Amino acid sequence: MSKKRESFSGSIGFVLAAAGSAVGLGNIWRFPFLAARDGGGLFLVIYLVLALTFGFTLLTAEVVIGRNTKSSPLTAYGKLSKRFGWVGAIASIVPFMILPYYCVIGGWVLKYFLIFLSGYGLDAAQDGYFGSFITAQYEPIVMLVIFLGICAFIIYKGVASGIEQYSKILMPVLILLVIGISVFALTLKSTDANGNTVTALQGMKVYLIPSFEGVTFKKFLLIVMDAAGQLFYSLSIAMGIMVAYGSYVPDEANLVQSINRIEIFDTAVAFLAGVMIIPAVFVFMGPDGMAAGPSLMFVSLPKVFAAMGGAGRVIGTLFFAMVLFAAVTSAMSVLEAVVSGLIDHFKLSRTKGTILESAIALALGILVCLGYNLFYFELTLPNGAVGQILDIMDYISNYVLMPVVSIATCILVGWVLKPEFAFKEAGKNGEELGRKGLFTLMIKFVAPVILSVLLLMSLGIL
Ligand code: PHE
Repeated sequence: MSKKRESFSGSIGFVLAAAGSAVGLGNIWRFPFLAARDGGGLFLVIYLVLALTFGFTLLTAEVVIGRNTKSSPLTAYGKLSKRFGWVGAIASIVPFMILPYYCVIGGWVLKYFLIFLSGYGLDAAQDGYFGSFITAQYEPIVMLVIFLGICAFIIYKGVASGIEQYSKILMPVLILLVIGISVFALTLKSTDANGNTVTALQGMKVYLIPSFEGVTFKKFLLIVMDAAGQLFYSLSIAMGIMVAYGSYVPDEANLVQSINRIEIFDTAVAFLAGVMIIPAVFVFMGPDGMAAGPSLMFVSLPKVFAAMGGAGRVIGTLFFAMVLFAAVTSAMSVLEAVVSGLIDHFKLSRTKGTILESAIALALGILVCLGYNLFYFELTLPNGAVGQILDIMDYISNYVLMPVVSIATCILVGWVLKPEFAFKEAGKNGEELGRKGLFTLMIKFVAPVILSVLLLMSLGIL
């Protein structure tokens, strides 16, 4: 007995759901600090060129695998070629590993949203606030439970009435918030102790004008690799998600147009996240403010909101609401990537699959929370970073397994099935996949090389 496979109602539902997955913490928190660190406009140009070539190719490859096989990542690869079944297994292990810690971070965002909403945003600007929150024994776990509960509810509701329905509400609100906050950020200015006024536009120059200061050939290559790694993560590639979502796209939908829109959406939000954050940090913390790196969102931004005075409370609340929406639509896509495999391969019902995977993610997520107190330790990873449980899970999934899945996907589509496979699937209704020559060159040669370099760098070999 085979039930009809669930699907999105059309291409708009797919675009919003996939953009919901792609737009996440990576766009809002990681992209701005990489741009500030890597030469501003120089990073932006490199990122844009890679998005239109490398990103476009990998995204297309995964979506066509999904729609062609109408299968979850766990089953899709094996259907296309018996020798590639293992890729599906790893592509499903990645979201399985990411979900617990992504939901822990989602819980942190929820906490910040609630604290700004209830008018205690100033507390979050105190030194040591973030550290004492994440090392607390119960609160991060409570936040994790609520955050994961929201995602599980949406996934339990299914593809059309869950994922699509909620993406159609959350994504338009998110984009309005992003635009509104960006416009506000451009009006900021402050006066320092010597009476000099610093304006947001000066901050925008740091963001937009390419800086070649200290850029040697080696540094340039490192920036290219930063941009490639960021792009790869930002488009939710190599975690089974785009295969799963692609499998719910109706045959009549225009894939070529949808893929372009997803890319534009993801890149625009990343760019605007920089507009929201870089000038604001520049105005209130000076040029060195961006050096905060990873702690930017939870440590520096609350200080920036506090410095804005009364408006800071409102802007802080709206900002964290927006980040929360971005995190929910990403986390639910990770959950779906695993649940779809439980449904397709293990023949579980959607309800059972959702409950099972959420329960496992909860157990592992609690372990991640305890990694900051009860089980605290420090481990040096092969790429030189020092981390706790969260960082180790992040390292194995993002830095090792994801490049492996993506290299294998390139070999499967580029060499085994041949690029025509993608052209045919994307052009099912007579659509023309533009950039065909580029796609072929990328999938066969350039992307596997970039991905291999990323992998070797992560392993500490390069
Ligand atoms: N693409 C998301 C982002 O940019 C990252 C992500 C999505 C990570 C889904 C894991 C799962 O933040």
